[in-house]
Amino acid sequence: MAFSLSKVVPWGRSLAQYRSMFALDDADLERRILGCADGPASFNAEMTAMGKSVTSFDPLYQFSVDEIRQRIDETVDEIIRQTRLHRDTFCWSEEIPTPEALADNRLASMNRFLDDLDIGREVGRYIVAELPSLPVEDGSFDLAVSSHLLFHYSEHLTEQFHLDSVRELSRVAREVRIFPLLELGGRLSRHLDAAIESLKTIEKTATVEQVDYEFQRGATQMLRIR
Ligand SMILES: C[S@@+](CC[C@H](N)C(=O)[O-])C[C@H]1O[C@@H](n2cnc3c(N)ncnc32)[C@H](O)[C@@H]1O
Repeated sequence: MAFSLSKVVPWGRSLAQYRSMFALDDADLERRILGCADGPASFNAEMTAMGKSVTSFDPLYQFSVDEIRQRIDETVDEIIRQTRLHRDTFCWSEEIPTPEALADNRLASMNRFLDDLDIGREVGRYIVAELPSLPVEDGSFDLAVSSHLLFHYSEHLTEQFHLDSVRELSRVAREVRIFPLLELGGRLSRHLDAAIESLKTIEKTATVEQVDYEFQRGATQMLRIR
């Protein structure tokens, strides 16, 4: 099925948030990293500015800067309205104390991404690609990270999509980290056990690990695959 911009709700996080979600230490930042489903996150832009190596895959990158900016403008108010309605399901902090501060935080990351998209696309840092099939050779990356797609959208994405996707990420990167493991509604992903089991058949070990990040209440674990 064609990927439609009108179905996307762009929402992007920062390098600091990626570091916490994926427990990335200084040595990890030196690795060849794939950000799969990076969308409008500023992870790639910020890492590149520090001289690090990140390639981002997302179907969103088929659209122009203006098209993505327009879609952000169309959707941000509704996201904040929904966040206010479900305020109790999030952990508010000094950094992000209110839904309005959340919007400012995410918009800052997304603007940083938009400023970087054209140049990054030209040099091959932003690539139009979609799970469960990625256009690169086996072992092209040291580490793949993927946040807020797999497991999070378990109600909308099938078990087979999850099994194929975790295997594909494991094919292209020596290590994979996925966050969060909770679905949108707050329960542990219905596809997690099947994904872990299926990885055993390709001799990969998957472990659930605690990380130092919590915004969706209770979402504090990532899956590490080696
Ligand atoms: C909620 S955003 C998360 C963005 C970023 N990872 C973050 O945490 O800030 C989910 C992203 O998944 C992307 N996406 C949707 N289907 C995909 C697929 N089959 N393969 C890769 N990315 C996909 C969307 O375009 C969107 O940018």
